Amino acid sequence: MSPRVLLFTGKGGVGKTTAAAATATLAAARGLKTLIVSTDTAHSLSDALGEVPGEIAPGLHLHQVDTQKTLERHWGELQDYARGVLVELGLDEITSEEITVLPGAEEVIALLELREHAREGRWDVIVVDCAPTAETLRLLALPEALDWHVTRLMPVGRKIMRLVSPFVRGVAGVSAPGEAVMNAGERFHRGLMEVRELLTGDHASVRLVLTPESVVLAEARRTLTSLSLYGYRVDAVIANRVFPDGGADEWRAQWVAAQSRLLSEAEQSFAPLPIHVVPYLPAEPVGRDALAGLGSAMYGESDPFAPHAVEPPLRMSADEVTLALPGADRGEVDLARKGDELIVTAGPYRRILALPAALARRRISGAELRDGVLRVRWHAADGPPGEAGSAPPFGPGSESASE
Ligand SMILES: Nc1ncnc2c1ncn2[C@@H]1O[C@H](COP(=O)(O)OP(=O)(O)OP(=O)(O)O)[C@@H](O)[C@H]1O
Ligand SMILES: [Mg+2]
Repeated sequence: MSPRVLLFTGKGGVGKTTAAAATATLAAARGLKTLIVSTDTAHSLSDALGEVPGEIAPGLHLHQVDTQKTLERHWGELQDYARGVLVELGLDEITSEEITVLPGAEEVIALLELREHAREGRWDVIVVDCAPTAETLRLLALPEALDWHVTRLMPVGRKIMRLVSPFVRGVAGVSAPGEAVMNAGERFHRGLMEVRELLTGDHASVRLVLTPESVVLAEARRTLTSLSLYGYRVDAVIANRVFPDGGADEWRAQWVAAQSRLLSEAEQSFAPLPIHVVPYLPAEPVGRDALAGLGSAMYGESDPFAPHAVEPPLRMSADEVTLALPGADRGEVDLARKGDELIVTAGPYRRILALPAALARRRISGAELRDGVLRVRWHAADGPPGEAGSAPPFGPGSESASE
């Protein structure tokens, strides 16, 4: 039985760690075997829970990623290779400590560990406290982006390396990666793809945490679009730090009014997703009791651990590709066709989709973005696949684009 995986993301400081910890506490209180992990190495989860890592309550386990140890286990061979090449180029040795400071390395390692936990079969629920929006997104997109490079470069790369490696050694004085190193790279890559499958699969969903402020809301909308672009399924929004009304002085009354405006805006933006409202508490919700209370307030009558009913954003049929891009504007969505690839851009984010053979050899007949869904249709008959950018462009005056 696969565990239910719940990911929490949102802008910095909005309450991701708090919402994740409250959800995990609630799960354990309901008798579910629960693991909570963080993808960042700050110890905020342990601070919020007021506990050190380990079994912190019956059925509730807090896991802290040991980046260095895991890195050495997963990246050992790659690291040796990197070190060897750098030395031969006359650069200083790269140490594993230096690799850990590479952007995203820690989160990647945390995700590799997450896959192992999911496989263990020990957990009913795994709660993941993710890094703030941008990093999480880049990170979540990484496996697929890598897949694109690896599937293209790896087999050829390996062949070339086998052929040229004696020459490269002689001429350039640099080692080509040996078979063992390539295998380590492939293993690492496969691990990342499995993480991606886990996180976009039927048992996983993302909860978007926000506070009712215009800047935060704007970013949450973009996050929803890009998560969907990459195939992740958002099943709820959590609106945190909502001021209670009633008995308010002038200062609070103004905040209450502003927040309720933003909350109704959020309802429109995120419909049909449920928005769980969490009150601004008079004190920091730290410790299991406070978090359990916050968890009950957050979800009310709904069951936060039930399977989600969110469809996968991407669907491919015999003559159509649809991709849900909730909240995307036509002006920021771009589509390009390059041989057997469809390249979809939404704002600063891009996804490269490998087309199935049946679509790859036919021409696109039209594309439109309507009600947050990008729909690309293909001609029925076989024809030349077309060149880069042959997909109909979006924009005013384009016959295939529509409101
Ligand atoms: N509903 C609330 N009422 C009062 N305080 C809150 C509430 N939610 C969170 N806090 C407090 O706000 C602070 C930030 O919350 P938290 O650490 O959960 O945010 P975060 O999104 O995880 O931040 P980061 O982006 O730094 O990881 C913490 O001190 C937390 O206790
Ligand atoms: Mg946090």
